[in-house]
Amino acid sequence: MPAVLEVRDLTKVFHRGSLLARDRIVAVDNVSFQMNRGGIFTLAGESGCGKTTLARMILGFEQPTAGKIIYAQGPEKEKQKVWFSQRIQCIFQNPFETFNPLRKVEGYLFETVRNYGLAKNKTEAKELINSKLEAVGLSYEEVEGRYPSEFSGGQLQRISIARSLLVDPSLLIADEPVSMVDASIRMSIVNLFRRLQDELNMGILYITHDLATAYYLSGQIAIMFRGNIMEMGPVQEVLMHPRHPYTQLLRDSIPEADPAKKWQGRISIAATEQEEYLREGCKFAGRCPHVMEICKQQAPETVDVDGVHVKCHLYLGTQRLAREVRKRTV
Ligand SMILES: Nc1ncnc2c1ncn2[C@@H]1O[C@H](COP(=O)(O)OP(=O)(O)OP(=O)(O)O)[C@@H](O)[C@H]1O
Ligand SMILES: [Mg+2]
Repeated sequence: MPAVLEVRDLTKVFHRGSLLARDRIVAVDNVSFQMNRGGIFTLAGESGCGKTTLARMILGFEQPTAGKIIYAQGPEKEKQKVWFSQRIQCIFQNPFETFNPLRKVEGYLFETVRNYGLAKNKTEAKELINSKLEAVGLSYEEVEGRYPSEFSGGQLQRISIARSLLVDPSLLIADEPVSMVDASIRMSIVNLFRRLQDELNMGILYITHDLATAYYLSGQIAIMFRGNIMEMGPVQEVLMHPRHPYTQLLRDSIPEADPAKKWQGRISIAATEQEEYLREGCKFAGRCPHVMEICKQQAPETVDVDGVHVKCHLYLGTQRLAREVRKRTV
């Protein structure tokens, strides 16, 4: 499967506070991964670990401080920019924020068709819109003439997925697409992602707090903590046999997405979050049940443990030990 996106040593630094007491937060710290077409890649981790910042850089909304984002080759060099913006689509957390309450929903769909020149006339546009709405379990008739408030959150989220499908994206970035949708219809949206990825052969970058849907949906998963990918690999391996102490903790204490907390996150920052971001050594050292002296002083390298990338001194130790044992026996 060809890579649809590769992220190499991507870093984003934010400065916060007053000029005299400025904190340097590395919201995304040297992150690398690769995504294939036709696969679902999950970015998981608790609030404030850098998931949205990473997504915003991929979407071009935020300039990286360092590192590279390599998109799949478009058809022609000069058309690349248009091609990218068209081919990478995004679904946000709150569908009610995506749509203006005073504007009919169909207006958004026609606007996208117009912006990208996807149809020759209104009839053709309607047909295209209807086909994409059908792909998400709705129809043009159900949407025509209605305002956002006349839909449920789940329906609106489907409509925003239909809108992104209009341009045949090769990559869909879904940032917490179900965390504000009723639990009862969450699974139907998650299933929709699964089906779309199967049928349309696009890559999906699924961003979530929720390890249960991540497990169900994804092929590969990256667990982030304070800007770092702590563990990354096949979802079955990472979630069923977590190597990193943080993944173990996260799995055992699956935190719920809390919409109220999100607002706080934007304005102020929890003391521990700030402390952890500014910490020398491993960012998780303050909470880690296996913490060692070295963890407090030195950030661990990422090592490959049976095909899973783990950023933890525990495994650096075993690798070193294994090397030494090998040396001794040779
Ligand atoms: N524009 C900004 N200026 C300063 N700090 C920022 C900015 N955007 C994000 N941050 C900080 O960067 C860190 C990562 O934030 P980000 O929104 O990427 O986290 P997240 O994993 O998406 O969290 P959530 O799960 O709550 O959505 C946080 O500490 C956040 O406060
Ligand atoms: Mg976020």
